[in-house]
Amino acid sequence: MVSVAILGAAGGIGQPLSLLMKLNTNVTRLHLYDIVNVPGVAADISHVATNSEVKSFLGPSKLPDAVTDIDLAIIPAGVPRKPGMTRDDLFKINAGIVKGLVEAIAENSPRAFICIISNPVNSTVPIAAEVLAKKGCYDPRRLFGVTTLDVVRASRFVKDIRPKVDAATLRVPVVGGHSGTTIVPLLSLASPPVELSEKEVEELTNRIQFGGDEVVKAKDGAGSATLSMAYAGARFADSLIRAQQSGVAVVEPAFVALDADPEGAAEYRNLGAGSLRFFAVPVELGPSGIKRIVPLNATISTYERKAIAVAADALAINIDTGVAFATPPA
Ligand code: NAI
Repeated sequence: MVSVAILGAAGGIGQPLSLLMKLNTNVTRLHLYDIVNVPGVAADISHVATNSEVKSFLGPSKLPDAVTDIDLAIIPAGVPRKPGMTRDDLFKINAGIVKGLVEAIAENSPRAFICIISNPVNSTVPIAAEVLAKKGCYDPRRLFGVTTLDVVRASRFVKDIRPKVDAATLRVPVVGGHSGTTIVPLLSLASPPVELSEKEVEELTNRIQFGGDEVVKAKDGAGSATLSMAYAGARFADSLIRAQQSGVAVVEPAFVALDADPEGAAEYRNLGAGSLRFFAVPVELGPSGIKRIVPLNATISTYERKAIAVAADALAINIDTGVAFATPPA
């Protein structure tokens, strides 16, 4: 029995993500919540011939019911980027939206796993952590910023320059955060290994960091990545559900609190995460969420070390911005 709530289900990400979660045969109940258009989306998706029940929840008065008795909440609610905007430009609007939604989850399903897609993830995850802590139900092993799209892009973009690579099975660890230069792909640790020149590493790193801009530009004012993000979000949610259901170890990247596993975090702190509270790392998932932060057990390149240092400086500011929003200084 797995009950999933998607908050922001009528949006560009929310609709295909809802469809993909309807296709997930481990899901038994699907709650679709939005402030507009969600009855139509839910009616449409409810006709798909899988066994889960789909329910629609429209508007703030229905939010508590939408997040009652759920195991997993996925949050793609908010506004997306338009050309020329950074993810941080979204902060003012999305910060308040995420805060309100997480408060409702804390009050009605305090043990639910929470996956945050709404940008800027580097700040919205710290907001969620603060909200949960205030409500007395913060468990760092259960809160995730979804960075799967960065890993998905890394695999696919390597394939673009090395056609023999299998994009579906290539794994490139991506650490740091989820915006611009805070995204640090560790191409030297690709598995299986890929030989790349320095120039190729630089170009690929830049493309992975700013891959979202390609979509924003191509959509020309009509939003940011939605379909690839729905795929990435569904993949992450599926991993979380499989790990919870079967107890089989599943590894995925996510932007998480490093104190979810202080021992596993030590290596990343030494690599440049320093005293940061949150960092994107590969995590092994289990029945209670994060089982451990997976070590790299390898030496990264000087270029990657420098990139982590750049990421850490920006991340410190993003994280502080989120914390200050949720807990304004007295
Ligand atoms: P969209 O505008 O198409 O959809 C957002 C949906 O959220 C709309 O249906 C809207 O009605 C709903 N919404 C707004 N306020 C709400 C509230 N208080 N409660 C519930 N629903 C609410 O936007 P799109 O393209 O789906 O993007 C959503 C978010 O995901 C954006 O913040 C975007 O930046 C982010 N994103 C994150 C990525 C990641 O890798 N983590 C990748 C791409 C986008």
